Amino acid sequence: GGMITLDPGYKNTGACESAITFLDGEKGILRYRGYSIEELAEKADFLEVAYLLIFGELPNKEQLEAFHVDIKNESHVDEEMKKILDAFPKSAHPMGVLSSLTSALIAFNPISVNVTSKDEMYGAIVRIMAKFPVLVAWTLRKKKGLPLDYGDDELGYVENIHKMMFKRPSQEYKRNKIVIDALDQLLILHADHEQNCSTSTVRIVGSSHAGLFASLSAGISALWGPLHGGANQAVLEMLEAIEADGGDTKKYMAKAKDKNDPFRLMGFGHRVYKNFDPRAKIIKKAAEEVLGDLGIEDPILEIAKGLAKEALEDEYFVKRKLYPNVDFYSGIIYRALGIPTEMFTVMFALGRLPGWIAQWREMRLRSEPIGRPRQIYIGENQRPFVEVDKR
Ligand code: CMC
Repeated sequence: GGMITLDPGYKNTGACESAITFLDGEKGILRYRGYSIEELAEKADFLEVAYLLIFGELPNKEQLEAFHVDIKNESHVDEEMKKILDAFPKSAHPMGVLSSLTSALIAFNPISVNVTSKDEMYGAIVRIMAKFPVLVAWTLRKKKGLPLDYGDDELGYVENIHKMMFKRPSQEYKRNKIVIDALDQLLILHADHEQNCSTSTVRIVGSSHAGLFASLSAGISALWGPLHGGANQAVLEMLEAIEADGGDTKKYMAKAKDKNDPFRLMGFGHRVYKNFDPRAKIIKKAAEEVLGDLGIEDPILEIAKGLAKEALEDEYFVKRKLYPNVDFYSGIIYRALGIPTEMFTVMFALGRLPGWIAQWREMRLRSEPIGRPRQIYIGENQRPFVEVDKR
């Protein structure tokens, strides 16, 4: 195949044209639909950002309200779904549970499968925007052994998610603005990141005209891996291991640099960002603020800062332009909010949901062809079949 260009990992291949997210890896710029991530993280809320990503413009008050009402009207998840959740052992990894439940949702919402018109797409989008947080909350509640619950229509989108996750049967739910704002900001920072592994997965699965929910379920599986969204869990486990090791960051630095050791400094490096990850900058500051506001002193934050400082001054990391990425500090905030480590990547999925939806919708509206990469064959030439007793 002389005509075929080989590009493992698609390092230099543009797979689509997109009007959703702009990313400049040299300058550390990230914009959703033209708005800078710094400004959105500070001024917008997650539901507005979701609307912006999916439909292209910031909603006015009426549009935002209508979107929220449509979501609330779809916030039930079929009771039969609880049986599926029930069948999982408590020890199941929440990402596996979430992707299975998202897939199972198709059976209960067949109307969301074959959507082609903008109106049908809208229906599928509000259904998943409504039901996905319920699945996330159920996944956590199953882990914790708490009774399953539904949302509260009186609350904002993110506050409702928080309540669904943490409401205890015997207690009133108390609103904590610091916690909700921190969660809202983290979700915004994760909401889209152009053609990353999980988003490309969503687009390629969707390109076969599999439905939105099936595409999302595949995206969740892609996100799970430690080189992608799973890095946030891996970072915290690494920081905990360093803490248990008496704070010996040098040892882990040496391991990360050792080419004979598969260990990598988790939360470091990025395919596109080569000077800094703008999300990491915001999250580092937020981590310090949130822990301060909540009066939490977490030794892990000091270890993380120390490790980052060492790496940023180390020749190995400098030469390869490796900087802390979005996953480096996020887990410290999740932990401060009482979210178990195994749930971190689920929180990433919750934030990425509008991005995946926006990318899927764009791909379908542009009638993109089925995704089908080529290859360069390096196997055997033609050879005759050999009967089993002659091998
Ligand atoms: N620790 C040690 N060495 C590293 C690291 C790291 N975290 N990241 C990259 N390198 C080295 C790598 O070994 C290679 O060295 P050499 O040139 O000597 O062979 C060089 O840097 C280039 O790395 P690469 O693997 O070719 O780069 P990539 O673009 O294929 O991979 C990455 C990008 C993010 C998968 C990688 O940096 C990595 O594995 N990082 C750790 C996992 C992580 O934090 N992932 C989260 C990514 S950000 C958001 C998200 O997707 O969740």
